[in-house]
Amino acid sequence: MKITLTKPDDWHLHLRDDEAMASVVGHTAERFARAIVMPNLKPPVANTQLSAEYRQRILSALPENSGFTPLMTLYMTDRLTSEEVIRAKQSGFVHGIKLYPAGATTNSDAGVTDIRKLYPVLETMQRESMPLLVHAEVTDPEIDIFDRERVFIDRYMAMLRADFPELSIVFEHVTTRDAVDFVRESNGPNGATITVQHLMFNRNHMLAGGIRPHYYCLPILKRETHQEALIKAATSGNPRFFLGTDSAPHPQHAKECACGCAGCYTAHAAIELYAEIFEAENALDKLEGFASHHGPDFYGMPRNTEQITLQKRDWQVADSYRFGNDRVVPLKAGQTVHWQLINE
Ligand code: DOR
Ligand code: ZN
Repeated sequence: MKITLTKPDDWHLHLRDDEAMASVVGHTAERFARAIVMPNLKPPVANTQLSAEYRQRILSALPENSGFTPLMTLYMTDRLTSEEVIRAKQSGFVHGIKLYPAGATTNSDAGVTDIRKLYPVLETMQRESMPLLVHAEVTDPEIDIFDRERVFIDRYMAMLRADFPELSIVFEHVTTRDAVDFVRESNGPNGATITVQHLMFNRNHMLAGGIRPHYYCLPILKRETHQEALIKAATSGNPRFFLGTDSAPHPQHAKECACGCAGCYTAHAAIELYAEIFEAENALDKLEGFASHHGPDFYGMPRNTEQITLQKRDWQVADSYRFGNDRVVPLKAGQTVHWQLINE
């Protein structure tokens, strides 16, 4: 069996930088025409100038004739100004501004400490049609890690949605039924990305019978009822939900250790693994909308004109891939994937 799709885009991706980036970007460029590139480098990509430089480094690292377009984002800090938002918009290559609550995840120390102080900047974003991309987790240490997304909705997301009714907001990597309901039911231009690991797994897969550090990402995998809500949303055909892998490579030694980093590497087999999920739900007819149409429609960009073909054929994932001077262990390392990308 084969399926042909409009070439998909990845609306949430970590490419890292330098040699590490150069060793992983090909996986994404083979499968996706465009990707929203996250700005959580060290130091963060917090202005248009840094973004232009990062974009050039990505373009230089791409394989010949890949046709891949990186869609850049800025990292929102307490010091972001309205002038910078306007500069970013005028650049034509910055497509969103990412809000990380300070300390929420990998390289987020420079994140926002008080969202209310940024209201003038959010006004400008709304006026300039610059989407806000949100890592929606509170960082309050009092709040249980499994509740951090739900509490963020109650404390901040509902308020942002009400105060900026015209602002395009992407609820990144939704992991709970609460988030799915919020995105579906609240008024305004709402989008949400869904990762492949949150569709494939729940916290039992990560924690029962041994700890699997390569399943550890943020927001953390939740219980099965939430996984079911995500699968339902992704396969529903609702245009508010679209593909965003959050593929986040880390060196093997930084994952397999006493205090491992958050992030799953999925770029090597992303569209193939989404296809497995959609097939299991008898919803392969909904894959193209989720992977290739809803994202560009939300961001106001043209849909891609190229196509990819996936064939139902088993292949084995490598145990690890080169990652600069290190190795990265991919999701499903050493295991079988049932769909394969083929060149026609
Ligand atoms: O698991 C994650 N890894 N979640 C994030 O939000 C960041 C990412 C990373 O950069 O490694
Ligand atoms: Zn991410």
